[in-house]
Formats: sequence, structure tokens, C-alpha cells
Amino acid sequence: MPEPRVLVVSSSLRPGSRSRVLARLAAGSVTARGGVAEWLDLAEIGDIPICDGETCWSHPAVQAVQARAGAADALLLATPVYNWMLAASAKNFIELTGRKWAGKVVGFLCAAGGTRSHMAIMSAAAAMMLDFHALVVPRFAYATGDDFGDDGAPSPDLAERVERVAAETVGLARAWPAIRTESPA
Ligand SMILES: Cc1cc2nc3c(=O)[nH]c(=O)nc-3n(C[C@H](O)[C@H](O)[C@H](O)COP(=O)(O)O)c2cc1C
Repeated sequence: MPEPRVLVVSSSLRPGSRSRVLARLAAGSVTARGGVAEWLDLAEIGDIPICDGETCWSHPAVQAVQARAGAADALLLATPVYNWMLAASAKNFIELTGRKWAGKVVGFLCAAGGTRSHMAIMSAAAAMMLDFHALVVPRFAYATGDDFGDDGAPSPDLAERVERVAAETVGLARAWPAIRTESPA
């Protein structure tokens, strides 16, 4: 696969979001690595419903994000950590689009208030792997406020960690179709 399409999803709804900075960095790195970075910011979609497992499927905003996820070869999900877990906005996005992640390469980028929540993505990563048979990128970028300067710019060390996630996402997305035994739905 010469140019994998990577959907970079920014799930924070906060105007001054740090995970959005990670997502932007990752999108740039995907492009630099020869991938096609597709950008999806949930803060820009005002009317996306909470998943109810029934009526949500016919909602135009849900169908639109499902189509975006379905067209991707890989997904990079940038999320805040809330209450030791993914933020509800990120979890809701997975609930609304999850089947579209099946069999794809999936990576995570996290912004948190402190260092102790670094396992926050694990239940989502496990669901991706065990339920959706996705290939989870074996590193993720985790940032706290200390990783950003007073001007909001990411430190060089954080930028390198994000670049590694993006590089491995693009590389795995190129290799994975020849290895997996089941094509994405
Ligand atoms: C409701 C709420 C819960 C939070 N829970 C945690 C937490 O469990 N662990 C943590 O390290 N930070 C926690 N934080 C801090 C956020 O992860 C931090 O502000 C992060 O930068 C948010 O992501 P964003 O900047 O992309 O919006 C919480 C913040 C909020 C508003």
C-alpha cells in the first residue's frame, strides 16, 4: 500500500485542547512519512449524538463520521484522559464508529493532567485488539502540561514521541494488509 490513509481524530471538545496539538503534530508527521492524513475534529461537529445503540445509526452526523472512519486504512485517536479513562467524547466516537475500525491499524495520543493515568487507554486498546482485531500501534504518546511550554508549544521530546507514533502507524498500515487474514468490513 503506497499511501495509507490515516484518519487523525481529535476528540477533545476543549477550545485550548492539548490533545488537539498532539493530533495536529501527528497529522503533519503522517504526511511527512508519505501517508495521507485525514483530519476529523469532534469539536467541529456540533450535533453528534450520544450512542444509544438504535436511533443514532440513522443520524446524518453519525453516518458522516462512519464514512470517514470506513475510508481510512488506519486511525489515530487523540484523547483527553478523564477519570483515569478516555474522555467520553472519544469513547462515544468509538461506540458510534467502532466496527469501521475493524482490521485496521489504530494508534493513540493522550493528554492528561498528571503522569499517573498513563494506562487510561488500555481498555480501549484491548477492545480494539480483541473485539475488532485491529492492530494496535505498540507505543502511544502521553503528554502532561509539563510537556508544553508557556506558549503552548510541545517540547522537542514530546514532538519526537508523537512523530514515532505517526511513523509506526504509517509503516504498519503499509505492511498490515499483506499479513492480516481478514479484510476490514
Ligand atoms: C472531568 C475531568 C477529569 C479528568 N481526569 C483526569 C485523570 O483522571 N487523570 C489525569 O491525569 N488528568 C485528568 N484530567 C485532566 C485532563 O486530562 C487534562 O486537562 C488534559 O489536558 C485534557 O485534554 P485536552 O487538553 O485535550 O482537552 C481531567 C480533566 C477533567 C476536565
